[in-house]
Amino acid sequence: MESALDHHTALALLAWQIELGATEAIGDMPVNRFDLPRDAPKAARSPAAPHRAAVPPDKDPVAVARAAAADAQDLAALAAALDAYEHCELKRGARNLVFADGRPGARVMILGEAPGRDEDMRGKPFVGRAGQLLDRMLAEIGLRRDADDPEHAVYITNILPWRPPQNRDPTPQEIAMMLPFVERHVALAAPEILVLMGNISCQAVLGRRGITKIRGNWTEAWGRPVLPMFHPAGLLRNPHNKRFAWADLLALQARLEKKT
Ligand code: URA
Repeated sequence: MESALDHHTALALLAWQIELGATEAIGDMPVNRFDLPRDAPKAARSPAAPHRAAVPPDKDPVAVARAAAADAQDLAALAAALDAYEHCELKRGARNLVFADGRPGARVMILGEAPGRDEDMRGKPFVGRAGQLLDRMLAEIGLRRDADDPEHAVYITNILPWRPPQNRDPTPQEIAMMLPFVERHVALAAPEILVLMGNISCQAVLGRRGITKIRGNWTEAWGRPVLPMFHPAGLLRNPHNKRFAWADLLALQARLEKKT
């Protein structure tokens, strides 16, 4: 059934009801949906309706992303280019663009998967439970997202800047559209080392999954050393993997110390 509400308003109303304690979606009156007339007239779609097809059929969304990303000469311009990018449906369901946090120019850049609920609300990556664990992990090797000097700072972003509905995995098309922005993001932030958190970022950047096997194995992407690691959300679900994450953090620390 078509709704008169746009995506953002519907989502905000739903979030408000959940905050009030609603746990079920039940209407006041029962609806027999089998009774609805089959030939009911279709609701007219205005060209400006928010649910219109996002991609004009003659435009390749990946090519549009590549051109927009290449045009961005600094991080502010890249954030603006992402904000103006209209070809990814995820944007329509998200509250905020989640661009990055931390210090651009830090020696270490972390690439996560996608914003979750907390990140979507606050417009910052890794601020929920997984983010708090990430901060504690980094602190163990002397790194902080709010450090002033690039030696002790990190810069953090995600493959996707918009929250996928119900935190589902991004589709290959969504990853393909965002990849030019991610590559440009890395180039503009200019880290020495890239840390890939979890399968989605490994899939996007290295074209490989299987984090249990590839974690801790240094590789290269976009001309920089890359360290794949378990995602902190995965560590919250499987705490027995924390010892591997600890080994990887020590490997990262050793590499940073070697180059100072
Ligand atoms: N998980 C991610 O991969 N990124 C976030 O920003 C939050 C959770």
